[in-house]
Amino acid sequence: MSKIKLTILKIGGSVITDKNGEFTARMENIRRLAKEIKEANLKDLFVVHGGGSFGHPSAQQYAIKDGFKEESQKIGFAETHYAMTMLNGLFMDALIWRKIPAVSITPSSCIITKKGRIQHFEETTLKMLLNMGFLPVTYGDAVFDMELGFTILSGDQLVSYIATKFNAERIIMGVDVDGLCDDDPKIEKNAKLYSHLTLEELKTFKDKLGKPSACDVTGGMFGKMLELIPAVEKGISVTIVNATKANYIYKALKGEKVEGTLIEKE
Ligand code: IPE
Repeated sequence: MSKIKLTILKIGGSVITDKNGEFTARMENIRRLAKEIKEANLKDLFVVHGGGSFGHPSAQQYAIKDGFKEESQKIGFAETHYAMTMLNGLFMDALIWRKIPAVSITPSSCIITKKGRIQHFEETTLKMLLNMGFLPVTYGDAVFDMELGFTILSGDQLVSYIATKFNAERIIMGVDVDGLCDDDPKIEKNAKLYSHLTLEELKTFKDKLGKPSACDVTGGMFGKMLELIPAVEKGISVTIVNATKANYIYKALKGEKVEGTLIEKE
């Protein structure tokens, strides 16, 4: 295991689904990304994808993240998990159709959280997949929680956890915007894209801005990046690129220069 220099690729839910609809997959992006992953032909890769309009609606409707409070939520947990397996199925289909030996790992079956943080992760399957040269794929999911009963585990927490645990070399975050900016570019036309940030700079923004702005309509991107701080602290680089643009993920995977934000420890 120690010889493996793992790359972790997260594909955001807004890249592979249309967040304005419900259960609306962006099939052209799913197919193109499968092609880019195939062409990059990386040996030690681990892919995580988000939930977008598959995972979030039921999770929100039944307040799954807040934990188990009443019987009526159980169907919501089941629905959320099932919706994620459907989206995962579409993603797996595109990969396997391209003859990529991708195997999906279901978080709700091998991860237990405690107050929303990963507590147990049965990692033997993942290790074997990597050692045998498969492409493991996982996703944000509804999971069981030791204190809350159940909750939502984000793909971003999974990325950070696995990167740290497996001492990954780098993380690539494929999102639907160009990277981190000093303001929301959808509101502020002159927003400047940060092409490089150190860990210190990332933390300063957090303190300075309170609720930091980012190239994200919901402003949620910066929060996602904060989840990755422990990984950056360990020396794992994070590249944020626009996965809706053709070949950006391919270039990032190949280590070629591509527009985006690179976050490094120093
Ligand atoms: C969310 O995962 C999973 C569920 C809602 C079940 P993420 O938080 O990683 O998804 P995106 O990338 O924001 O859509």
